[in-house]
Amino acid sequence: MVFPMLVLEGRAFIQGSFKQCAIGIEDGVISSIKKTLHGDDNVDYGEFLILPGGIDLHVHFREPGLTHKEDFRTGTTSAAMGGITTVFDMPNTMPPTTTLREYEQKVEMAGRKACVDFGLYAALSKPRETSRLAGAGAPFKLYMAQTTGGLDVPADDVPGLLKDLPPVYPPVVVHAENPAKFKATDARTLREHDLARPVEAESSSIDLLKAMRRNFHITHVTSEESLESVSSSGFTSDVTPHHLLLDCTRPLGQLGKVNPPLRQPSEREAVWNAFAGGRIDILASDHAPHTEEEKSVNFADAPSGLPGVETMIPLMLRKVRSSDLQLDRLINAVAERPAELMGLNKGFIEVGRDADLVVVDSHSVTKVRGKKLHSKCGWTAFEGWEAIFPLAVYLRGNLIVDKGEVAEDSIGEHVDAKVPAKRPEPAKKPGFGAALQQGAPR
Ligand code: DOR
Ligand code: ZN
Repeated sequence: MVFPMLVLEGRAFIQGSFKQCAIGIEDGVISSIKKTLHGDDNVDYGEFLILPGGIDLHVHFREPGLTHKEDFRTGTTSAAMGGITTVFDMPNTMPPTTTLREYEQKVEMAGRKACVDFGLYAALSKPRETSRLAGAGAPFKLYMAQTTGGLDVPADDVPGLLKDLPPVYPPVVVHAENPAKFKATDARTLREHDLARPVEAESSSIDLLKAMRRNFHITHVTSEESLESVSSSGFTSDVTPHHLLLDCTRPLGQLGKVNPPLRQPSEREAVWNAFAGGRIDILASDHAPHTEEEKSVNFADAPSGLPGVETMIPLMLRKVRSSDLQLDRLINAVAERPAELMGLNKGFIEVGRDADLVVVDSHSVTKVRGKKLHSKCGWTAFEGWEAIFPLAVYLRGNLIVDKGEVAEDSIGEHVDAKVPAKRPEPAKKPGFGAALQQGAPR
């Protein structure tokens, strides 16, 4: 069968560096990359950057059951506007995703509404359902401590749950906090929340997992101590933009309440350095919207979590522009390594991969405004911060964001996580930060 060829021209990130080139796309897949190509339709982005679409392995889109906070349409629209073309959604909904039936219903619901491609986690929590969910290829999330949704599992029960998973399987994503290390206080400030769920709770939980001899992926790491546990165990890890950019001294009150908590400035800086240096594999938003009303009660009663899927890449592109982060490290953390970890045919601008592409004008710096973002929750902890939002976004060759506006919606498809072909390696070559820096050509 012959498909029409769409050609995108620009400075694309190919095999570790930027090249002025033409990307040919047929039937949603990159079919050729050449200096010039004549397609049925050519779109010339000049010297704008073309990056692989972002893959966010940690979002909470709240559907089913909590759709006053977010739903699959608003969540995935928000993702697309921030340059994310694939999301993996968490299971702590109402009802939670703990059975094959709930999983299949959610795949069907999301397939009708999603604007970007999506994977869905099932909670590792019910012994009899684990093998059935694994049979359907569901990736798993494990909660080691109480947080929104109450899906936590006592550490002693985890080996019994893992027994029903095939020995070779995509990594189980873990919220690692050990409740035995929590302090019984009614925290009223971000610093008290940090002390109530301390760094040791996180590192000790990772240590408990080591004995289980599984390929765990530790999500939202917040401390140097935890990173040492991660590296001695051979696990992979991710970090959120809020743990990289915010700390518990910020005047955010309960808007900044999140689990695991925002830490002290020195800890934040250590985690930033680890991320920028490639010791943390992946950047994931942990987009966890709650309404302003829900967040406006006193600190102890406010729910934990903050939104972030739309601002994650734009805030980091701004950090690249100010030379605080290398662009190739960012691409590695938001596209290449998530694709490798979950075995997706995405994440790289390469012949044969899905044509998920993000076009960026590096001079287009704007201010983040909560009211202008597309999440239902309508607020952000990054109000007024500078950011670089994408100009255009393509999902499998379809233009879904054009000139910063939604161009097409509801074409997202379900993706299966697969056992990765190889374990992600650390970022190979530093460099290429210059592409976004002041004075550099666009
Ligand atoms: O702060 C958090 N909020 N941490 C979690 O683990 C869950 C999340 C949510 O769903 O709101
Ligand atoms: Zn989460």
